[in-house]
Amino acid sequence: MTIDKSSAWLTLQQHQIELSPISLAEMFASNKQRFHELSFKHCDLLCDFSKQKINTQTIKLLSDLAQEAQLSQSIEDLFNGALVNKTEQRAALHTQLRHPQAHKPEVKRVLAQMGSFIDYLHSSKFTDIIVLGIGGSDLGPRLVCEALQPYKQTDRRLHFVANVDGDTINTLLQCLNPHTTLCIINSKTFTTIETLANAKLVKNWMQQHVATVAQQLVAVTANKKAALEYGISPDNIFEFWDWVGGRYSVWSAVGLPIAIAIGMHNFEKFLAGAHAMDQHFRTAPFTNNLPVLMALVGVWNINFNAYHTLAIKPYTDGLQLLPAYLQQLEMESNGKSAANNGDFVNYQTAPVIWGGVGCNGQHAYMQMLHQGTQIVPVDFLVAKSSVTGSQELQDLLVASCLGQSQALMLGRSAAETYKLCKGNRPSTTIMFDKMTPEILGSIIALYEHKVFVQGIIWQIQSFDQWGVQLGKDLIKDVLQIIEKRDLKNLDASTAGLLQHFFER
Ligand code: F6P
Repeated sequence: MTIDKSSAWLTLQQHQIELSPISLAEMFASNKQRFHELSFKHCDLLCDFSKQKINTQTIKLLSDLAQEAQLSQSIEDLFNGALVNKTEQRAALHTQLRHPQAHKPEVKRVLAQMGSFIDYLHSSKFTDIIVLGIGGSDLGPRLVCEALQPYKQTDRRLHFVANVDGDTINTLLQCLNPHTTLCIINSKTFTTIETLANAKLVKNWMQQHVATVAQQLVAVTANKKAALEYGISPDNIFEFWDWVGGRYSVWSAVGLPIAIAIGMHNFEKFLAGAHAMDQHFRTAPFTNNLPVLMALVGVWNINFNAYHTLAIKPYTDGLQLLPAYLQQLEMESNGKSAANNGDFVNYQTAPVIWGGVGCNGQHAYMQMLHQGTQIVPVDFLVAKSSVTGSQELQDLLVASCLGQSQALMLGRSAAETYKLCKGNRPSTTIMFDKMTPEILGSIIALYEHKVFVQGIIWQIQSFDQWGVQLGKDLIKDVLQIIEKRDLKNLDASTAGLLQHFFER
């Protein structure tokens, strides 16, 4: 049976009809306990769902839906290494990478290798490290390095490059010394065209200046054979495995740039924060389980209230890449319409994820969220303190964040329609003490498990990405057409654009 035919789903539809006429303001007015009933604290994160259009009954009904989808069994399957990625027949055991007691021997070995490499780097000649990779081989390390800048333990400079934009890489290389530059090639498959194109450019640049470049190239990959064939010395290859999905790989050696930036001990704290969230996710009842609640509130908004986007608004510059990171995590995982039963789903799945740093957005697109025609749920993330002090600025940040969520909820009455803000617009607020490696680990794991839960409810395969594969294949075809300049058998638009391109 598909989930939308289940009694839990039908009950939720009825519940939505009953609840929708009641505004958020009215819900707060009629229940003084609302904040306490609908906010939850675990792993040093306070998640406040009280500004969502739900009540305790909604949570109960949504958790019935999770039971109906057999979520408990799926969680155990995930943690026990069952082949949860059915279309590729793989486990998704990223939780093993951050399980300090139950590390597989190969995980321990690579962690030790990372530690030794960082010790070696300290006394090495390298001043600059280029990190090449794209998607999951870029977004995680880039986000975490940015977010944990105050914990920096090295003066080596990290330069991340993902896109194949000649202006980016050439401008960077012009500023670097080829003798003192190390290049980390992060690629699970070691076949990704963008990463290999950038690697070729960097390797050529090094070879023009340095007699032997083997010591200056590092690979992080699940395809050791390809890295060896590429000419990388075995000591400089950091392995991970096919049971680590690309967008879940930040916890593996893909996180090497993080460990270089903040030190191995802080990287381990980052893993520990994620592990704490894993423990909570695996053991807490659904009605008191942060990832499950986040997921269920999302399902409620998407499938029962028809709010099809989600804005991610961190009030910390360090988290400015979080929306991009979550775009991959949520949209690559659950942007699917093929159901597990071989049919297509007939309900919405992943929301459109977008967003940006809090205050900046307030002076830009938040206008639409307050007065536009679409209702856009928001996840606000805010710290009580900054890492480096400046409580005065932090007070302003917190005031800005809470002012926005309050304005979305309550709106503002006015005689003139152009001044009116209707309010009644939902949001979740995640508040934490300050950005630490542990907190960041917990936040990322929170969203990972949220996405997993939603995939189970929607009965889709969260761990594959066949749609992305189509794009990867087509690039190669179009590149061949460009080389051969043969426009025959092409659709008229692509042919017209290529013709225009050839006229350069
Ligand atoms: O974009 C598709 C994808 O397969 C992602 O899932 C992955 O993170 C990215 O490409 C990079 O792949 P690789 O690490 O194999 O270079």
